[in-house]
Amino acid sequence: MDMTATKHIAEELGTKPALEINGVYKNFETFSALRDIHLSVRPGEMLCFLGPSGCGKTTLLRIIAGLETQSEGQLLQNGKDISWLPADKRDYGIVFQSYALFPNLTIAENVAYGLVNGKVRKAQIKERVAELLKLVGLPTSGEKYPSQLSGGQQQRVALARALATNPGLLLLDEPLSALDALERIRLRGEIRRLQKQVGITTIMVTHDQEEALSMADRIVVMNHGVIEQVGTPLDIYERPASPFVADFVGKVNVLKGQSLGGNRFRVGEIELQCDTCTDDSFVPGQNVSLYLRPEDRVAERLDHDTPYRLNALITKVEFLGGLCIAEVTSEALHGQNLGLHFTLNQLHDLNIREGNRIDIALRAHRIRVFAPRAEVAA
Ligand SMILES: Nc1ncnc2c1ncn2[C@@H]1O[C@H](COP(=O)(O)OP(=O)(O)O)[C@@H](O)[C@H]1O
Ligand SMILES: [Mg+2]
Repeated sequence: MDMTATKHIAEELGTKPALEINGVYKNFETFSALRDIHLSVRPGEMLCFLGPSGCGKTTLLRIIAGLETQSEGQLLQNGKDISWLPADKRDYGIVFQSYALFPNLTIAENVAYGLVNGKVRKAQIKERVAELLKLVGLPTSGEKYPSQLSGGQQQRVALARALATNPGLLLLDEPLSALDALERIRLRGEIRRLQKQVGITTIMVTHDQEEALSMADRIVVMNHGVIEQVGTPLDIYERPASPFVADFVGKVNVLKGQSLGGNRFRVGEIELQCDTCTDDSFVPGQNVSLYLRPEDRVAERLDHDTPYRLNALITKVEFLGGLCIAEVTSEALHGQNLGLHFTLNQLHDLNIREGNRIDIALRAHRIRVFAPRAEVAA
């Protein structure tokens, strides 16, 4: 194999972005909905825009689709500048939250919609529609009408319709949020399976962290029109880049402490040394916030040498099924509270009950340290 071929394959395998967003801004009159968005989407990946309602997710997706124009900035799809290309000249399929199927057309006619407009031959259309309906698990529903299908089934049809023309990019705007909890979880797995099977580069908008964590290859966390962090679900969860990300993705305890200089911190009576806890630097004595996830404690096989060990009073136990939350308070933390996860088995084994005391050790290397939020804002 010659070098050019190798290079070409390397590019095909993902060094060349499927979509690049360079410095995109969007203003609605005086309101700034997106600021300085830079993003590179890899071929074949499933990327989720995650953030609270109103943070700009849909606006960014609509700009990618050409349904909204950016105030500033550039978009490249497979290296080609599409910044000013009208929506119908762009290469994507899209699925919205509301099913948006044509109620007076059959399922097969709905799926065929983009193909008919594209003047594909009739027999070919029929074959493609059958293939797509099979792909989304509805092989025998072609003659039905949308009202005869459940919400989840209608979203499968919308998905089939979006994939019909074999687009280079699949855009999904909260495709699961109109469904009930069970259907949502079922379709989550279904969309992910389909996305991998087809290998299509996909961007999905969601405000649901669990959806993003379970479906995405990478997550783009957005807040107030800016990107806070881009990373794999594990990156985002384990190494949140900001207090906002730590708070928005997963549950977290926030403890007040002080910097002791370098990578040393004090929380209550406890002195922590953790080299991976922070990307920031603090002056000794500076107030800090320490973010600790509910699972980041050790409660078994502790001995006197176990570092960051403390004794705590259990003030409340919330039974949630297999995983429960115990609220504890500790003199060693100067009376600060923690919410900790315990499995139901641990609850029994460790005698975790309201009014009892428990020994735990903090997993120091899991803590993230940030400047307190008020000071960030100041
Ligand atoms: N056409 C519009 N005119 C004025 N403001 C808009 C328009 N579209 C969206 N916005 C505002 O931009 C912000 C981001 O909206 P959107 O992208 O829909 O958020 P998300 O999808 O993250 O919930 C919101 O504050 C919204 O009110
Ligand atoms: Mg939205």
